[in-house]
Amino acid sequence: MTERDETSRTTLATPMILWDLPTRIFHWSLVVCIAGSYLTAEDGDLELHQTFGLCVIGLVLFRIMWGFVGSEPSRFTTFLRGPTAILRYLRAVRSGKHPSIPTHNPLGALSVVALLAILLVQAGLGLFATDDIFFEGPLNGWVSYDMAATLTGWHHLTFDGVAILILLHLVAIGAYAVLLRIDLVSPMVTGKKLVKPEDRVPDPRMAPLWLAVVLAGVAAGLAYGLTLIG
Ligand code: HEM
Ligand code: HEM
Repeated sequence: MTERDETSRTTLATPMILWDLPTRIFHWSLVVCIAGSYLTAEDGDLELHQTFGLCVIGLVLFRIMWGFVGSEPSRFTTFLRGPTAILRYLRAVRSGKHPSIPTHNPLGALSVVALLAILLVQAGLGLFATDDIFFEGPLNGWVSYDMAATLTGWHHLTFDGVAILILLHLVAIGAYAVLLRIDLVSPMVTGKKLVKPEDRVPDPRMAPLWLAVVLAGVAAGLAYGLTLIG
């Protein structure tokens, strides 16, 4: 084999499964429901706003369960790392040796958890919110008038945090594409990531689809249940 053949062999990247179908459906449905929540709130269509908001709750509940029992790359134990691992990762990126990681990188993992948490708080506060005229969230009756006004104020305020985190998320993805020439978006669409032979690790363990369907049913039931207990 010539030296040239050897070089092209080692740089030949092959696809490897990264994000399973449930994680991808979760992600793109979340994008649609957040856009829907925002646009309906701006339009004052609060019935539809609540429907999108309840879908956000269902999606986040699903993702939390999937983070414990789902496919290996989507599990919290796979991607949540301590400060030492984050610093090691940042040092590697600074020195130009970007490690190929078959899940979220240690820094991205923090933004994933922050996004899930703030979205749950945002939608959770919405359950108690009211526009003081026509519409009340399903749990508004559980709190006093003054408390509902406070929680509605927080619902508005928290959205600033949601918007900032989403902006950071998009800037980070753009920076990976432009500065590091790493395409994170295609794997979130196709599920597959291109890996060079030298970076290849054994294929991750994938959870069965039926488990995702059961958990999605549980999450949807819990979210819908919120409209019944108020
Ligand atoms: C079940 C879930 C939700 C319920 C019941 C709910 C309920 C409400 C209510 C009653 C208002 C009107 C408050 C007012 O007039 O002062 C409101 C406003 C708003 N909600 Fe929600 N919400 C939910 C989820 C969400 C989610 C997931 C988002 C975004 C991610 C969101 C974003 C907003 C924003 C930005 C406003 C302010 C709109 C404006 O006045 O410009 N909500 N929500
Ligand atoms: C409403 C806006 C968005 C929200 C709330 C959001 C939220 C999230 C969350 C929670 C994850 C973690 C996925 C998981 O492990 O389940 C994630 C990952 C990801 N998102 Fe988004 N996202 C948004 C918009 C977008 C858009 C518009 C794009 C594409 C341009 C995008 C591309 C990605 C990619 C590539 C990942 C994987 C990052 C990695 O490889 O570590 N997101 N997003």
